[in-house]
Amino acid sequence: MNQPDRTPLLAVKHLGVAFQTDRGQVLAVDDVSFELNAGQVLGLAGESGCGKSVTALSVMRLLPKPVSKITQGEVLFKGQNLLELPSDAMHKIRGKKISMIFQEPMTALNPVHTVGRQIAESYSLHFPGMGEKQKNTASLQMLEKVGIPDARQVMKKYPHQLSGGMRQRVMIGMALACEPDILIADEPTTALDVTVQAQIMDLIFQFRETTGMAVILITHDLGLIAENCDRVVVMYAGTVAETAKVTTLFRQPFHPYTKGLLKSIPSLAQKAKEPLPTIPGNVPALSEMSAGCRFVERCKRALTQCENQRPRLMPVSSGHFAACHLVYDGEKN
Ligand SMILES: Nc1ncnc2c1ncn2[C@@H]1O[C@H](COP(=O)(O)OP(=O)(O)OP(=O)(O)O)[C@@H](O)[C@H]1O
Ligand SMILES: [Mg+2]
Repeated sequence: MNQPDRTPLLAVKHLGVAFQTDRGQVLAVDDVSFELNAGQVLGLAGESGCGKSVTALSVMRLLPKPVSKITQGEVLFKGQNLLELPSDAMHKIRGKKISMIFQEPMTALNPVHTVGRQIAESYSLHFPGMGEKQKNTASLQMLEKVGIPDARQVMKKYPHQLSGGMRQRVMIGMALACEPDILIADEPTTALDVTVQAQIMDLIFQFRETTGMAVILITHDLGLIAENCDRVVVMYAGTVAETAKVTTLFRQPFHPYTKGLLKSIPSLAQKAKEPLPTIPGNVPALSEMSAGCRFVERCKRALTQCENQRPRLMPVSSGHFAACHLVYDGEKN
């Protein structure tokens, strides 16, 4: 009997990324691993600077050159290591199989080309046989799908002539044009006001319902993760602190960092004037990282071994892992 194929759609394994800075080489991503299955929505959470975007850019092979270097690891897409692909093969995967939307749409849009031309180009790249007329119709339909009113007129405009929300919709349209297997959405709504934020999230998830694409949602907003994701990876200072199903992570967080993050979300039970608890201290500078746990300075539960031994991800329960010495210490949730 044939065994079911258990190869994940995407597996990031022991990824390491270093940047060359004035203070020497710093490891911005250190031994990060996670998996994404077909159709799954994975949240990537953690404070600013913890390596979420660098991880996403590594998957897309869009890290800035020559300041960055992948120091170790693999990015397996359907079992194939993207980090070893020749650039032309990677070009075919980017956009067609894995698309990314960025926090600031202007980074993805070309200021000197009309919106219509840019969307049509996404089709040309991946469907070279498509005629001009077909591309035009497909682009128009895509703009309508992403909720752009008067799409025919918008096709003739340049990105700077559109509002932030409209630009974001155009970028989403471009990212979704080829119906990718994976959409990486890096803070897709942070730059937008709250009502537009909700519309953009709805748009992404409506599209997911119809195509079944998998999504990696990168956000500071744990509320968005709780509402939309199946699993979550919590990153801290370039490492994975904890990963679990969303329900498990929110009900039974293990890592002291995750517990602190969850306490800092406003709840309805909170009295209006009560300040929200925060995690004392700051994320350490990457150049000053100790050999032990990267959270040690801010951790109220730190043990002696936390000072000098890097904790590895250990199972807390089925499908739930934390990189914390309290797991080895037999701590229960
Ligand atoms: N071009 C670069 N040169 C040097 N260091 C960089 C560069 N890009 C990112 N870094 C460093 O890598 C680390 C991770 O950055 P990254 O952008 O992935 O964080 P992030 O988790 O996405 O943060 P945010 O939530 O603010 O978007 C940071 O310490 C950052 O300073
Ligand atoms: Mg980022």
